[in-house]
Amino acid sequence: MNLILLGPPGAGKGTQARRLEDTRGLVQLSTGDMLRAMVAEGGPLGQQAKEIMAAGKLMPDELMVDMIAERISKSDVKNGFILDGFPRTVAQAEALDKMLEEKGLKLDHVIEMRVVDDALVERVTGRYTCAKCGKGYHDVFEKPKVEGVCDVCGSTEFKRRADDNAETVTTRLAQYHQQTAPILPYYQGRGVLKTVDGMADIDDVTKEIEAILAG
Ligand code: AP5
Ligand code: MG
Repeated sequence: MNLILLGPPGAGKGTQARRLEDTRGLVQLSTGDMLRAMVAEGGPLGQQAKEIMAAGKLMPDELMVDMIAERISKSDVKNGFILDGFPRTVAQAEALDKMLEEKGLKLDHVIEMRVVDDALVERVTGRYTCAKCGKGYHDVFEKPKVEGVCDVCGSTEFKRRADDNAETVTTRLAQYHQQTAPILPYYQGRGVLKTVDGMADIDDVTKEIEAILAG
C-alpha cells in the first residue's frame, strides 16, 4: 500500500507515519528527514538546504523530485511507502505521478491531516526527539513515561529542530497555504483524497487513518 500524508507543519505527519511503519511495515519517506541528513553531512547542497529550511521556505522542485525518485527506486519500498512532506507543490505532485506510472506503482490514499493554524505553533515549538533513536516527543502532548529518558531506547539525550521556532513556523505555514494546499483539489479530482481530524488525540488520529486503510 502506498500513501501520502499531507498537512501543515506540526499536523502529525511524522508521528503517524512512524506508527504505520511499526504496525504495517510500510517505509516512511520523509523529505524533511532526508534534507536534515544532507545538512548534517555538510557540503554546498547541505548548506543551501540549511539556509532555506531555517527560513521556512521550500527547496527547489527539481532537487526534491530527484531525491524522491532515487529513494523510490530502492528495494525496501516495494512493500509500500508513506510519503511525508512530499509532494509539496503541484509540480512535485505531477512529477510523482509520472515517476509512479513509469515504475508501475500506484497511490492508494492521499490523507489530509486537517489542523487549525493556531494549534500548530504550540505543537511545533514543543516538539523534540530522542537524539539516539529518533523517537518523537512533545513537551505537553507526548512526554516520555520517565522524564528525561527515551521510552524506546533509554537514551537521556534529546534534540530540537533548528526550524522549530515561532517565526519560522509562521513562514512554513504561509508556504503550506500558498504552495501545498493547491495539491488538495488535484488529488480530490482523482478520487484518492481523504481527510482526517488532525486536532484529535494522537491515538484517535491513528484509528481514523487505520479505518481509511482498512477501506
Ligand atoms: P518537514 O520536516 O517535512 O517539516 P513540516 O512539513 O513543516 O512538518 P513537521 O515535520 O514540522 O510536522 P509533522 O506533520 O511531521 O508533525 P509531527 O508528527 O512531528 O520539512 C522541513 C523543511 O524541509 C520545509 O520547511 C522545507 O524547507 C523543506 N522541505 C521538506 N520537504 C520538501 C519538499 N517536498 N519540497 C520543498 N522543500 C521541502 O508532530 C508535531 C508535534 O506535535 C510533535 O511533537 C507531536 O508529538 C505532536 N503531535 C502530533 N500529533 C498530535 C496530535 N494529534 N495532538 C497533539 N499533539 C500532536
Ligand atoms: Mg515531520
